[in-house]
Amino acid sequence: MPFIEHLSDTELERLALEQVVPALQEYGFYYVDGLLGELAGGAVLDQDGRLAGSVPAVHRRSIRGDKIAWVSGSERGCEAINFLLNLIDKLISFCSGRLGNKAIRERSQAMVACYPGNGAGYVKHVDNPNCDGRCITCIYYLNKNWNAKEHGGILRIFPEGKSYVADIKPLFDRLLFFWSDRRNPHEVQPSYTTRYAITVWYFDSEERAEAKRRFRDLTGTNEPRTKRSLFPQQMLSNYI
Ligand code: OGA
Ligand code: OGA
Ligand code: MN
Repeated sequence: MPFIEHLSDTELERLALEQVVPALQEYGFYYVDGLLGELAGGAVLDQDGRLAGSVPAVHRRSIRGDKIAWVSGSERGCEAINFLLNLIDKLISFCSGRLGNKAIRERSQAMVACYPGNGAGYVKHVDNPNCDGRCITCIYYLNKNWNAKEHGGILRIFPEGKSYVADIKPLFDRLLFFWSDRRNPHEVQPSYTTRYAITVWYFDSEERAEAKRRFRDLTGTNEPRTKRSLFPQQMLSNYI
């Protein structure tokens, strides 16, 4: 099925320049609703369910209790996810050059995630505390009829140095952006029903190249890798 873009390039460019860029600069995060529309959003949801839903469940008391799969989007059966990724890439490319000294030319693969609804969440963390190259976190949520009082699953951001928190519900067809570094510690509160999302991380070219150099030097030595055990194996292969 071919997906029709529901936002024109002009609308995407305006969204990027008039909303995403100023909000990132002012608050460090931003979300937009109704990105793909019902049909394409529904197709992405089906693909997320099939990919992450089939992964074995993890223990609910671990650091992160979601089930994840990594995809490039070019795999068979990932056409809707590919469509989503192309759209986010376009949106980010309209922002790039306007994000201070950041130069964004590449991103991670897509992390397709499903919290199984057993009360699992993800403890408070920073995605990129140590300059691994990740600059912007983009999360696309896929949950219809989400009732946070009953289902939990709120993403709470604790903006660095601010006295407020931002509570973001994982609502269907919502795309969230935030700086991946220490400016945005965040947690996923326990989720009591299945919660679907797809995440990509955009890299700052210079920081990423530096992280790769560091990692190459490190692997030649016996130097301990602090915190490595806190992360799943994908951490190393996908980001460094
Ligand atoms: C993170 C992170 C993905 C992974 O949120 O910091 O690394 O595989 N997520 O660890
Ligand atoms: C992550 C993460 C937030 C969410 O995977 O690093 O923080 O709302 N996810 O799913
Ligand atoms: Mn995170």
